[in-house]
Amino acid sequence: MSPVGHAAPNGHAASNGHAAPRGRTELSAYAEKLIRGRRAVRAFRPDAVPEETMRAVFSLAGAAPSNSNTQPWRVEVVSGAARDRLASSLRAAHAARRTSVDFPYDEDMYAPTHRQRRAAFGAQLYGALGIGRDDHAARAAYDAESLGFYGAPHVAFLFAPEGAGARPAADVGAYMQTLLLAMTAYGVDSCPQGLLSFYADTVRAELGITGGKLLVGVSFGYADTAAPVNRVTAGRAALEATTTFHG
Ligand SMILES: Cc1cc2nc3c(=O)[nH]c(=O)nc-3n(C[C@H](O)[C@H](O)[C@H](O)COP(=O)(O)O)c2cc1C
Repeated sequence: MSPVGHAAPNGHAASNGHAAPRGRTELSAYAEKLIRGRRAVRAFRPDAVPEETMRAVFSLAGAAPSNSNTQPWRVEVVSGAARDRLASSLRAAHAARRTSVDFPYDEDMYAPTHRQRRAAFGAQLYGALGIGRDDHAARAAYDAESLGFYGAPHVAFLFAPEGAGARPAADVGAYMQTLLLAMTAYGVDSCPQGLLSFYADTVRAELGITGGKLLVGVSFGYADTAAPVNRVTAGRAALEATTTFHG
């Protein structure tokens, strides 16, 4: 962990040579640990998350910011027998190639830089799984397998309102990251799964929901720490590659 240094209460670096107030430094150190400590987990133990923890996590996630405080997310948390039924229905939909997306996916939305990052990550992930670069059958089988939420006992589906465009969807994205961090803070592991959004109609039918646009599913529970796939560490671009400071 590398705390970002002493920050003054106004958010600027302390310039008087004294350490910033202790609370501020502790908070930034916690933030480093929390944000960098979260990672996508792709093999879970079957142990359920206690209800009390679940309520604390989802209450905290509700503190996410949104445009004009609209809080346009709708969250469906699925566990137990309902989770098992849903996994079966998703696998059946996958086998029948019955996909349905509420937010279209287009390969062209990625620039070459983004494609390179995706390819590098894919090589790392499939390498850890022992799946070869051109083994498309094995990759497809892994996709089908992952519709079982990587063995997680719970999955949360994040919906935007019916007719939502990019702005409400961005709010739901902010909710997602807040949720992931809240889970990390409470010792709960997670994996956001965009793949689940390719079966929006199946999810709605199984949960008895009408309306809403499915953005993403988040599988969660407790990591199987012995699984090699959970040792994958995705790197990040250098600060300069994504961020420009003006003025
Ligand atoms: C919107 C979104 C969708 C994602 N979809 C999937 C997915 O379908 N399957 C999967 O294994 N990981 C998925 N991920 C996890 C990313 O692969 C992961 O966040 C990224 O590689 C960075 O790794 P890290 O989360 O461990 O830091 C998704 C992440 C996000 C934010």
